[in-house]
Amino acid sequence: MAHPDHALWKAGWRANRIPFHLTHVHPLLERFWPQLGLPATAPVFVPLCGKSLDIAWLHEQGHPVSGIELSEVAVKALFEAAGRAPQRRAAGELTCWTQAGLDIYCGDFFALTAEDLRGIRAVYDRAALTALPENLRADYVAHLHAILPADCQILLLTVEDLDADEAAADNMQQSAEIAALYALYFSLELLHAELHETDGERSIDKAYRLQRSHHPTTPWSA
Ligand SMILES: C[S@@+](CC[C@H](N)C(=O)[O-])C[C@H]1O[C@@H](n2cnc3c(N)ncnc32)[C@H](O)[C@@H]1O
Repeated sequence: MAHPDHALWKAGWRANRIPFHLTHVHPLLERFWPQLGLPATAPVFVPLCGKSLDIAWLHEQGHPVSGIELSEVAVKALFEAAGRAPQRRAAGELTCWTQAGLDIYCGDFFALTAEDLRGIRAVYDRAALTALPENLRADYVAHLHAILPADCQILLLTVEDLDADEAAADNMQQSAEIAALYALYFSLELLHAELHETDGERSIDKAYRLQRSHHPTTPWSA
């Protein structure tokens, strides 16, 4: 059965209620993507991709890009913005919209298979993990690990909101939640942490580089 959040996301897209959508390429993507050291033609996966302009940026660098997004409205808009007329094909429970190096699967991330991600070398995650309810995040990381090829890297961008009584200096390191979620399957490196303050609200943008481990660490071998 579909998660209740699915209907909310789809309704948001239908009503154009998409405050997370940026009208520019994410500056931390442009700044830190080169640190992955990938060949320009390496295939990249963008989970929970919306109609992000980051997809076109990655594609312009030369990467074949695969994505997954629940909302058909978003997928349609993504191809329209790129001026592309995609073909559609059934892929298990999903529909894959495809055109010249761009494969966007429409449907639930958890229905994606290892076959769909064959050849992927890196993942770009901006507001994908954090879009999911907390009780689904461990399943998200486990599924990602299960379907990604070996030797994959991830560039993960997160935003942490600070409470009024929290000191920024105490929160500039790796987040405990991120470390706990990924430690079993990936090695984790914090590349960047940057404090923002808008209208008295403080948040910290972080960029992480993750490398998929060949053998997941078992709790008894850690
Ligand atoms: C916070 S938005 C981020 C979108 C994009 N990464 C960006 O930076 O603009 C999360 C997106 O994930 C989609 N989504 C939520 N749950 C999903 C799921 N289980 N499978 C696929 N897409 C999902 C939503 O429709 C929404 O477009």
